[in-house]
Amino acid sequence: MIIGIDIGSTTTKAVSIENERITRKIKTKAVDAVTSATGALGKLLLENDIRIAEIERIMTTGVGATQIKGDLFDIQTRKVDEMTAIGIGGMYLAGKDNIVIMNIGTGSAIIEAKKDKISHIGGSGVGGGAILGLAKKMLSTSNFNDIMALAERGDIKQVDLLLEDIMDANLGFLNKEATASNFGKMLDSAKNEDVALGILNMVYQVIGMLSVFAAQSRGLNSVVVTGNGSANPIGKRILKAITDIYKISFEYPEDAVYTTAIGAGLG
Ligand SMILES: Nc1ncnc2c1ncn2[C@@H]1O[C@H](COP(=O)(O)OP(=O)(O)OP(=O)(O)O)[C@@H](O)[C@H]1O
Ligand SMILES: [Mg+2]
Repeated sequence: MIIGIDIGSTTTKAVSIENERITRKIKTKAVDAVTSATGALGKLLLENDIRIAEIERIMTTGVGATQIKGDLFDIQTRKVDEMTAIGIGGMYLAGKDNIVIMNIGTGSAIIEAKKDKISHIGGSGVGGGAILGLAKKMLSTSNFNDIMALAERGDIKQVDLLLEDIMDANLGFLNKEATASNFGKMLDSAKNEDVALGILNMVYQVIGMLSVFAAQSRGLNSVVVTGNGSANPIGKRILKAITDIYKISFEYPEDAVYTTAIGAGLG
């Protein structure tokens, strides 16, 4: 059995892999790198009745991996470059070997993954961390579930300037409900619900457009979405609207939240 551990900036994920199949997975909040890695490993083992002797090796990746020096508990431990791990994990989960991946974590990273080469195309600091950070100041909560519950009841017309606010007709291929300016309207009547939706809308629209440009630059018509941010139902709705406009589709493979840890284990 191989264990893949992804020590991310916000969460640490661990998976077990046997015969190239994912058999167990767990997620835990990130603390310092060593505590995150050993804690995630302990949780994976104890919750699933796995014995240490069953582990052949541990593969670590993510921002915290460089702080893991030497072997963990005398088990052979190796590091895998994070972008390589996302590429390997993305191809495995999508079942394809020529893809563009948008990994939505604390920040966002775009990777081109091909059988013989994985490249980091780019990315942006706009990701899940921006949602939590902006919500902390603007909504006085950085609890993810609270933010989502608020946003579900939000009205985007209270915060975003839409094309229909500034012009009568559609603008080329954009219809009148398209965003002209995120937070560009911000009515005095805007409630926390509306602001929560405005935050998600801004983050996922930026991510969506970067995804579209990345896919177009590689001649592809779909993007594989991974990371914790791929499990955001409102985010997926926002990306769907972009699909309809730009004819680039978004794919959400099962277990996409664990892509980086899976790729490390398979790396
Ligand atoms: N239950 C949840 N479902 C979906 N997204 C969540 C959930 N809880 C938190 N998030 C979002 O996921 C983000 C973290 O994503 P993820 O765990 O993939 O990042 P990370 O791997 O720790 O960071 P990075 O890869 O950027 O170093 C948080 O910033 C938050 O916005
Ligand atoms: Mg990550």
